[in-house]
Amino acid sequence: MTTYRIALIPGDGIGTEVLPPAQALLDAVGRRHAIAFTYDRFDWSCQRYLAEGAMMPPDGPRRIRDHDAVLLGAVGWPGVPDHVSLWGLLIPIRRTFQQYVNLRPVKVLDGVPGPLRDADGVDLVVVRENVEGEYSEIGGRLGRGTPDELAVQEAVFTRKGVTRVVEYAYTLAATRSNHVTSATKSNGIIHTMPFWDEIVAGVADRHPDVRSDREHIDALAAKLVLAPRTFDVIVGSNLFGDILSDLAAAVAGSIGVAPAANLNPEREFPSMFEPVHGSAPDIAGKGKANPLGAMWSAAMMLDHLGHPEAAADLLAAAFGALSDGVRTADLGGTADTAGYTRAVLDRV
Ligand code: NAD
Ligand code: IPM
Ligand code: MN
Repeated sequence: MTTYRIALIPGDGIGTEVLPPAQALLDAVGRRHAIAFTYDRFDWSCQRYLAEGAMMPPDGPRRIRDHDAVLLGAVGWPGVPDHVSLWGLLIPIRRTFQQYVNLRPVKVLDGVPGPLRDADGVDLVVVRENVEGEYSEIGGRLGRGTPDELAVQEAVFTRKGVTRVVEYAYTLAATRSNHVTSATKSNGIIHTMPFWDEIVAGVADRHPDVRSDREHIDALAAKLVLAPRTFDVIVGSNLFGDILSDLAAAVAGSIGVAPAANLNPEREFPSMFEPVHGSAPDIAGKGKANPLGAMWSAAMMLDHLGHPEAAADLLAAAFGALSDGVRTADLGGTADTAGYTRAVLDRV
């Protein structure tokens, strides 16, 4: 029996509703594969912020550093500005633990009606740069409240930071369909994006077997809707990858099913697994949340921990329930969170 210590951060809103189903599924699948989990639960959230003035304690990252992985629900709630809650919890964890790859697979699943006429067979993965780029603390505001007020937000791209995530994307493509599409905007953004393109071209030269495409982010967004099957691995900056992953998830039916792995590929620090979606205040507390994004993220965690067969079993159960017609409302079904979870657990 192998036992893993998991740091559990449910966070806010439906984050607290989708993690228990993911945990139950991990435990059930684990039993069949001689894997066990112990969970340390951390109440880091907007509620904590309102009560104690901080999303997590100052030594938060140190407290979860020695865990084998982090499982997170979602962060953000009305009443706490989003940039305060996210820069107080999610983003510092990604950065402290050098989780510079955010891996976001998208598949059209059997039994899931997407919004497009024909998206059958879509199977792609967004590789999002996760610790630099457009997400930066550098900048400021001047002349608050005056007619001449201005805000400046710097984007920081480093050769090392871009190279390592693009290398990751090419190496991943070599295990899939050998095709990488780089998201750029070097026609409008004249310093960082030409730099990005240059680095991508250099990495592409080192991977002659992988087909390389480059698309401006605007055209890429359109192509993702019109011809989603033509993509395999899409690599993008922090912001472009963020937007593309919600778009691609919607093409596949719902952002409620989309998983994410925040990876520290060197394994010097724990990696963090979380659904792509947020805390969804509009449906929170109603039992409507689709827990599949969290479940699939848990499968990515199993994979990362070295248990691909257990991960495949977990996904077979979660996807199988959909093929049986048990679906939550975001997928056009009538099941609630608990009902879909039961159907999945029954299949394990
Ligand atoms: P959101 O993802 O929370 O919700 C967008 C829409 O998708 C809503 O209509 C919601 O009901 C629906 N939805 C999302 N997840 C679903 C699920 N599992 N099942 C069914 N429907 C689902 O995005 P938002 O509204 O932009 O953000 C709400 C809050 O979450 C904000 O505070 C935001 O900053 C935060 N957020 C956090 C994360 C994170 O922690 N990783 C990610 C995105 C947004
Ligand atoms: C995500 C989220 C976060 C991000 C927000 C909430 C800061 O949208 O994980 O996709 O942009 O990284
Ligand atoms: Mn996002």
